[in-house]
Amino acid sequence: SELQRIIQGIPKTELHLHLEGSFEPELMFQIAKRNNITLPYDSIESVKEAYKFNNLQEFLDIYYAGAQVLLHEQDFFDLTWAYLTKVHSENVKHVEVFFDPQTHTERGVAFDVVIKGIHRALEKGKNELNISYKLIMSYLRHLSEGDAFKTLEESLPFKDIIDGVGLDSSEMGNPPSKFEKVFKASAAQGYKLVAHAGEEGPADYIWEALDILKVERIDHGNRCLTDEALVKRLVNEKIALTLCPTSNVALKVIQNMDEHPVAKMLDKGIVATIHSDDPAYFGGYMNENYYQTAKALNLSLEQIEQLAINGFEASWLSDESKKQHI
Ligand code: HPA
Ligand code: ZN
Repeated sequence: SELQRIIQGIPKTELHLHLEGSFEPELMFQIAKRNNITLPYDSIESVKEAYKFNNLQEFLDIYYAGAQVLLHEQDFFDLTWAYLTKVHSENVKHVEVFFDPQTHTERGVAFDVVIKGIHRALEKGKNELNISYKLIMSYLRHLSEGDAFKTLEESLPFKDIIDGVGLDSSEMGNPPSKFEKVFKASAAQGYKLVAHAGEEGPADYIWEALDILKVERIDHGNRCLTDEALVKRLVNEKIALTLCPTSNVALKVIQNMDEHPVAKMLDKGIVATIHSDDPAYFGGYMNENYYQTAKALNLSLEQIEQLAINGFEASWLSDESKKQHI
């Protein structure tokens, strides 16, 4: 459609993408086979059949299970490279991607195996696809702060290729405040800070991410609209929200795309941006997220362009590089 053509043409940035969530069933089967691992599915169709979720936790259980076939550096390279070639075709110019080291180190895959594969693909993407990148290591919030400290320690030899830390996994019952000390220690190592907050959790978790963890960007943040003082804070301090519309529908954070809060957020002056979260599981990469949102909410061309501009504004690119994209 005309709308899809317009969205394709807009240069975009992806700031909320879990590499493990870009693991397409086709590649999963291929890697499982060469690693002699049997998947609990007999076909790609039966995998897709299993991708029906009622909440975040039901998704996470399947997402962590899928990641278990990743064993070798080449597996992490292939995963990352497949993602980059996909978004290259969607006119994505810059990515800031998450990986979950603990999902792999917990099952005996060494930190360096994971990051070397990812980094090699990101460098190739920079050189061959002209996609610039930042890399964000995400702590799993269902695990302890001690475990996160262990991960921070393991990351230090790779400090130069890790730009920031994030916080993901099961939100309810695992508030940002649980990770106060490790975020402080991460900042002291020079890492930038972001955290998932207000996806399923309350606006209070967004306050905690800002005041206790001192993050500069909130991943999701849907629930902020329930708190006027919080909205004011986000606007005044230009704290970006990295929204993921198809994820929100897939995980029933909202029941329908036409309930998505992004239009209201733009109206209020929040630096809202749109991303894909876990596209292999939720069925939409960047352009599909823009398209479904624009269609359901009847966004104007100006609003669509604002979302893309906000993405570059909220990124960790230098002011110089931002100017080249906006
Ligand atoms: N929320 C929390 N943790 C996650 C997500 C998400 O949307 N995707 C991958 N890990
Ligand atoms: Zn996420």
